[in-house]
Order: sequence, then structure tokens, then C-alpha cells
Amino acid sequence: MPLSRQQKASEILHKNIRCHKSVFPLCDVFLINSHGNPNEMLDLICSVQFIEMAQRYQDKVALVTGGSKGIGKGIVTVFVQHGAKVCFCARDEDVGKKLEKELNEKYPGSSFFVKCDVAKEEDIIFILGIQKVVNSTVAKFGEIDCLVNNAGRHPPDQKIDDISAAELRSLYDTNVVSYFLFAKYALPSLRKTKGNIINLSSLVGSMGQPNAVPYVSTKGAIIAMTKAMAIDEAVNGVRVNCISPGNVWTPMWSKLANEAIDTNKATIDGAEAQLMGRYGSMEESGNLALYIAAEATFTTGVDFLLTGGAELSYGRKTRVQAQMPSTL
Ligand SMILES: NC(=O)c1ccc[n+]([C@@H]2O[C@H](COP(=O)([O-])OP(=O)(O)OC[C@H]3O[C@@H](n4cnc5c(N)ncnc54)[C@H](OP(=O)(O)O)[C@@H]3O)[C@@H](O)[C@H]2O)c1
Repeated sequence: MPLSRQQKASEILHKNIRCHKSVFPLCDVFLINSHGNPNEMLDLICSVQFIEMAQRYQDKVALVTGGSKGIGKGIVTVFVQHGAKVCFCARDEDVGKKLEKELNEKYPGSSFFVKCDVAKEEDIIFILGIQKVVNSTVAKFGEIDCLVNNAGRHPPDQKIDDISAAELRSLYDTNVVSYFLFAKYALPSLRKTKGNIINLSSLVGSMGQPNAVPYVSTKGAIIAMTKAMAIDEAVNGVRVNCISPGNVWTPMWSKLANEAIDTNKATIDGAEAQLMGRYGSMEESGNLALYIAAEATFTTGVDFLLTGGAELSYGRKTRVQAQMPSTL
């Protein structure tokens, strides 16, 4: 397929910047390559933002679980925008392949989708699916620099009385065991690259949430696992951190709101839970993950809050009749 003018301009600029080993002096590069043509010059200027962004994670290899939608999609997109080679997995192949194509056409890095159900019993026991994904990443792109464990699910409101052991175990398979297994099988490569792991936990993992004992306990486990793994892997030069989002507007949140008795109220409540009065975005999630992977090189075992201040201040929390204090 012939390259668009924008792609052509970007290619010329890429080559020049590699030769100059610096983004500056770009004015000279613009002038030389646009032959004084104002349209071409504009194309070149537009493409600079990609070049500058690309330098933040250029040619690094990332593996993102659950990368086809929501927070994972935000992470895959931002990493590819910044020049990384990203392998991502999910269950729905059509959605994954579509995103792979979009990103590869649009941004300087590259992406590669692999179908994988991180919760399948056979995947967990025989590690086939997980090994397949990890090996695919290594085979396609070389060693892994960053593993992002993100695939997870949040069941609708649940009371402990109604939850079976099988349901609890099934949630742990997706939300906890998959994180452990991906880390286990990616670590030999991560130790070689002195790479890092980012685990998606949740603010509720440290502060709780009503009607969600199983989910909250899985997210608490991720924070604890992150710290324990950070301790063990420091000697190998691998950093292990987690991100705890508050409310980020994703298909998961939208589905939970749709399942609520009053969808509008649930949606507004979700925004109001943050001091900032809005949901976080998928892109903001990607930005934090990129910062941890690329720049936060003196951090390990940290639980990064992505919450718009949701954990701050007092609020109306009780669900029983409040009592007046006794007279002093
Ligand atoms: N959104 C929030 O406000 C929020 C808050 C706190 C924590 N988190 C955590 O952040 C992570 C991402 O949440 P999200 O809101 O982005 O979720 P989401 O919108 O439901 O997206 C989940 C992604 O994971 C994939 N996935 C789900 N189950 C999978 C499985 N068994 N195997 C492989 N891929 C699977 C999904 O694709 P397929 O369905 O095609 O497999 C999708 O790409 C989760 O761990 C969640 O607990 C989210």
C-alpha cells in the first residue's frame, strides 16, 4: 500500500532524526526535507510530536494482558504511540486484531495481538496459553522489557452468603493466579533486560468496597504480591509496581453501571467518588503506566494511586442510623 504524505513525512523525519541523533535543530530538517513546500513542511511539523513521544519507550518490548479494551487498551495505545513493541492478549480475537491493525497504521511503535484466556483452567494448570503468549512475544519482538498484568473482572454486587467456593476460585484464577503465572514465565526474560512488572490492582484493594468481598480480596492480594515480588526481584534488577485505579471509565465500569438498578445514578455516583468530579480515562491510565515503565526507575514495590483523590477526606460512609455523641 502506498504511504500517505503524513507517513512519508514521518519516515523522512525519522531517518533525519536518527542521523542527527537529536530532535534539534528541527528547523533545518524541515527546510531541507520539505524543499520549501509549505504543505510538506506542515506534514513534517505534525509528525514531530510522534517522534518526540517515540523516544520515551522506543523499541522496548511490552506484554499487556487484557489489552484490547479499557485500561489495557489505554496502556497498549500509549506504549505504541511512544515507540514500543507491544504484545497484548484478550479472549475476543476480532476486537484484538482490529486494535492491532489500527495502532500499527497510526503510530510509530508496533502491536501484536494474541488470543488467550488467562482464566482457563488448562492454561493455568499446563501454562500452555500463558507460555504461548510469552513465547510469542519473545519470538516476535525479542526479550520482554515490561509486563503489564491487567486482565481482570469485577462481578456485580455480591453478598458473601450467595458466593460459592467455585465462584471465588474462578475469580482468583483471572484476577490473581494469572498475574502470578505471567510474572513467573516472563521473569527469566525480564531479569535479562532489567525490566519491570506493572500489576493493575484497585483502590478498593486497600480501602474496601460494599458488596464485593471476592473482588476486593483479589485486589488486596495483588498489592501484597507486588510488594513481595519487588523484594525478591530487586536483586535481579527487576522493578515490580502496581497501579490502583479509582474509577476509570471503561467497558467494565459501563457494564457495572448498566447492571445497577439506576444506571444514571450509578454513573454519576462513580464520577462523584473522585475529588476531581470525573472518571479517569484510558489514556490517563496509559500515561501513568508509561511513566512507571520508562521514567520511574527508582521505584519498586510502590502502589501508584490513579484515583483523582478518591481516597481523601471524610464522606458519608455509614449505612446504619448515625448516633449523636453523648453530652460531655
Ligand atoms: N475501570 C476501573 O474503574 C477500574 C478500577 C480499579 C481497578 N481496575 C482494574 O483494571 C483492570 C482493567 O479494568 P478495565 O476496567 O479496563 O476492564 P474492561 O473494560 O473489562 O477490560 C478488560 C480487558 O481484559 C480482557 N480480559 C478480561 N478477562 C480476560 C481473560 N480471562 N483472559 C484474557 N483477557 C481478559 C478483556 O478482553 P476480552 O473480554 O476480549 O477477554 C479486556 O480487554 C482490571 O484488573 C480491573 O480490576 C479497573
